[in-house]
Amino acid sequence: MHQKAGTILHLFRTEDGYISGEHLSRELGVSRTAIWKHITALRNDGYHIEAVPSRGYRLVSSPDSIDPLEVNARLVSTKVGRRLEFMKVTASTNADAFKLAEDGAVEGTVVLADAQTGGKGRRGRVWASPAGVNLYCSIVLRPAIMPHEAPQLTFLSAVAVARAIEQTTKLTPEIKWPNDLLIDGKKVAGLLNEMSAETDGINFVILGIGVNLNMTSSEFPDDLRQPATSLFLESGARVDRLLFTSTLLNELDKLYADFLIHGFGPVREEWQRRCNANGRQVLVSDSGTECTGGQFIGIDSDGAMLLRTEDTIMHRITCGDVRVI
Ligand code: BTN
Repeated sequence: MHQKAGTILHLFRTEDGYISGEHLSRELGVSRTAIWKHITALRNDGYHIEAVPSRGYRLVSSPDSIDPLEVNARLVSTKVGRRLEFMKVTASTNADAFKLAEDGAVEGTVVLADAQTGGKGRRGRVWASPAGVNLYCSIVLRPAIMPHEAPQLTFLSAVAVARAIEQTTKLTPEIKWPNDLLIDGKKVAGLLNEMSAETDGINFVILGIGVNLNMTSSEFPDDLRQPATSLFLESGARVDRLLFTSTLLNELDKLYADFLIHGFGPVREEWQRRCNANGRQVLVSDSGTECTGGQFIGIDSDGAMLLRTEDTIMHRITCGDVRVI
């Protein structure tokens, strides 16, 4: 979007009611014909702008798009989103962010996409990424931590997604170990973090976040491994993608700033409180075989699950599927 069009939108949002063409042309320092061209371009982008003779223009509604200028205008963050890249269609925002990070992109760089053609899920799975309905984003971070501590940032992103869901809907999500976001037992968001590291430190971490916002049932693939849903399907109300994106990035920024000062403790505490298995009896299966039953105690500093079995021995579990019983 053109910078001047961004300023027109900003004026619509800060000044109530109609704004005359004359006022807009004075504020932007351009002719009224130029204003008219920007208004036409905004309308072509899906903005509904009413024009009434002798009163001026009024913004009636905005499209459900995630224009980076619009996201930027809503950010209060200091690090996350200081550089924003938006792609209408890309293979994978994680792959894009990884390349940018290798080329030296600043910490806090965010890649957003409207659609992905090769969305990556965990364990080599595909992440369904249709256009115009969901959130697909990847964030570059460069924390001074050891490689084995990197999973802490996945837990941090799960907490940020949970907070954003609570702030933008009436829903209460749960987190399932290791890092699925569930509503009513169905998966609504997934996290895929990737990193580049040396033995003694991290070059960068990519936080990959996919949230099913307004997806409808027919848009889900048929061969889903586990039940999935979207915020729209669960709440019956469409989610404003722009609001969700900016809320999520602002929450990530707060959590990350806190993490750099106080470490993993506060994130771990909030993650455990939000975990569907917290303190409960669970069965952990590996590749479909039920192997261990016990009480879910929490997570270790490297993300391993802590499970206390009947013989009161504490086990560290690093992979498997957890079922609450
Ligand atoms: C999972 O399997 O649960 C993880 C899914 C992660 C999907 C997101 S969408 C944005 C980012 N880009 C990708 O290619 N994957 C992640």
